Amino acid sequence: MSGLSIKDLKVGYGRNEVIHGVDIDVNVGEKVALLGANGAGKSTVLKTISGLLTPTEGTITFDGDEIGGTNPAALVDMGVIQVPEGRRVFPGLNVEDNLKVANYGKSPDLLEEGLETVYKKFPILQERRKQAAGLLSGGQQQMLSLSRAIIAKPKLLLIDEMSLGLAPLLVKEFYEQLGDLFSEDVTLLLVEQNAGLALKYCSRFYVLRNGELVLQSDSANYIDDPTALQSAYLGVDA
Ligand SMILES: Nc1ncnc2c1ncn2[C@@H]1O[C@H](COP(=O)(O)OP(=O)(O)OP(=O)(O)O)[C@@H](O)[C@H]1O
Ligand SMILES: [Mg+2]
Repeated sequence: MSGLSIKDLKVGYGRNEVIHGVDIDVNVGEKVALLGANGAGKSTVLKTISGLLTPTEGTITFDGDEIGGTNPAALVDMGVIQVPEGRRVFPGLNVEDNLKVANYGKSPDLLEEGLETVYKKFPILQERRKQAAGLLSGGQQQMLSLSRAIIAKPKLLLIDEMSLGLAPLLVKEFYEQLGDLFSEDVTLLLVEQNAGLALKYCSRFYVLRNGELVLQSDSANYIDDPTALQSAYLGVDA
């Protein structure tokens, strides 16, 4: 199957298993959300797909290739790109060098094209391109982090809590721009605390609780009342 397919994934930290057998499928070009309370294991799933953690059991395939346990650099070459929680720009590098690193190993033409796209979208990054990324505001660092993903030309994009610490207006703007920033055939798995936003943007979602999937549904079924998801998050009747 093309797209992302995760079967019976088990993974953790040392001997502490935190994901206890999870199945997730995202078709090519589909936008899917992974939701759940703090500590449910959302970032752990993303980190495993992007190669930072190796599954103890189960398989992860992307466009038919088994990628579980592949090293992160090779996954980036395959188009598996993560926008990590907490932004993670290189604070000591200037803005433009942060963007150049994202193009590593690709052609200079692609870099020029990518820089043009992101500078047009986020003019403040162009204005500040010679400043250390660590001096940008939180929202601007998030712009930079997304810009790095745009330049990397993802096939599979993994975004972890883009809205964390950002002003609601800015978050809304980011979501509205996602469709323009990435081509339509990009497969997206999105982790988001703000369920209302995630449901608006994604056609389907999964809810993870204590490392197990407890609900999956089309977003349309919950879009009018995202608070109904709270019982699934917490395992209590809301
Ligand atoms: N580096 C680590 N070493 C040991 N345990 C970890 C590590 N990172 C996460 N965990 C544990 O794994 C579990 C899942 O964490 P994870 O970060 O995947 O949750 P999350 O759903 O992303 O939460 P949040 O919404 O707070 O970001 C938690 O119990 C957490 O304490
Ligand atoms: Mg997390």
